[in-house]
Amino acid sequence: SGYITLDPGFKNTGATKSAITFLDGEEGVLRYRGYPIEQLAEKSTFIEVAYLLIYGELPSKEVLEKFRADIRKQMLIHEDMKNFFAGFPSKSHPMGQLSCLVGALSAFYPESLNPNPTDEEEDKTIINLLAKMPTIVSWIQKKSLGQPIVYPKNSLGYIENFLHMIFGEVTGETTFDPVVISAMHTLLILHADHEQNCSTSTVRIVGSSNANLYASISAGINALWGPLHGGANQAVIEMLEAIKNDGGDAEKYLAKAKDKNDPFRLMGFGHRVYKNFDPRAKIIKKACDDILEKLGVNDPVLDIAKRLEEAALNDQYFIDRKLYPNVDFYSGIIYRALGFESDMFTVLFALGRLPGWIAQWKEMRDNKEPIGRPRQVYVGETTRDYVESSKR
Ligand code: CMC
Repeated sequence: SGYITLDPGFKNTGATKSAITFLDGEEGVLRYRGYPIEQLAEKSTFIEVAYLLIYGELPSKEVLEKFRADIRKQMLIHEDMKNFFAGFPSKSHPMGQLSCLVGALSAFYPESLNPNPTDEEEDKTIINLLAKMPTIVSWIQKKSLGQPIVYPKNSLGYIENFLHMIFGEVTGETTFDPVVISAMHTLLILHADHEQNCSTSTVRIVGSSNANLYASISAGINALWGPLHGGANQAVIEMLEAIKNDGGDAEKYLAKAKDKNDPFRLMGFGHRVYKNFDPRAKIIKKACDDILEKLGVNDPVLDIAKRLEEAALNDQYFIDRKLYPNVDFYSGIIYRALGFESDMFTVLFALGRLPGWIAQWKEMRDNKEPIGRPRQVYVGETTRDYVESSKR
């Protein structure tokens, strides 16, 4: 009732108070629970960051060991889940499969349906999600390749286990390049939370109806899928490939991006909040150079990306609108160097963002926030009388 403020896209509306992630778009600052992203990306591990985001503090050694062990024990998924996989066409998009399978987990863990879960029930769901998402992702990868699935190994760390299930063979030892492991930690940490973005707001709003955590995360995965959000990492590599196949003319695509009659946008550029630079992109660009060099990969699209970036940063259109490369601009080039197909990139983003979604859902529930229900300004017809179909 009364006066309603209109703010399409929530450009200027705060929906919640949050103590998880601090972001200063003018200064290019990003901190999780007060810790600068640069320090976490360099010194921490993905599971430690997950604990930090979800529970608020860096864990002691013992607590971290227990957290890791709890996750490791739950990495298997119910064999009946294979029936869901059987129904998907093998080339169907991994994000559709992921959201479906994560939602389906609730069917196997009915205690998650308790609208007021106990701390134990909630922790079990949290552990299950962190443990089973990498396994689900690996099943999706194996299905697309027509290969048998590879089961997790108790002796391996989280990232190692993931890589083992993704790239490992059914028999024989899998060896891991430390460069690849460290790159995966960095990438997942950089993606782990980003305050009230589209998918995170989706998770919070779905959870605000007391929907279960699996269902809320599944909704977040669908929100992330779009090319304006997490889907941008796949779109970037496809754009760079298109430029390469079209003679490598970056300027031509820059002109298309500026043309208001052309729906084309420079993928991996621009951000709702960062108006100076995206601190994650800064770290990723450097990591990209390092990793490609260490792995001895020479990807021609990296040169195109750099030329495109330089041209855009010197172009008045991009300067005026404060458009800079975002986290997605270079991440795909790294994922490709690590051996992932482009349609898996957004799934990797989802794996990274999972702890953030969980932390934000938990914060919303712990704070007993009311159900999310935006208002509107009605602009349709005023009252009119029904007309029989014969008279229309
Ligand atoms: N290429 C060309 N022009 C652009 C771009 C772009 N990538 N991004 C924004 N603009 C223009 C836009 O046309 C508008 O121009 P004008 O003022 O003349 O109408 C102005 O810049 C402001 O853009 P906006 O669309 O009002 O900004 P927004 O905050 O609503 O959108 C965005 C932010 C990220 C959706 C947008 O920049 C975009 O579409 N970028 C490309 C997709 C992308 O890389 N997404 C990943 C975002 S970061 C990670 C994540 O969220 O997953």
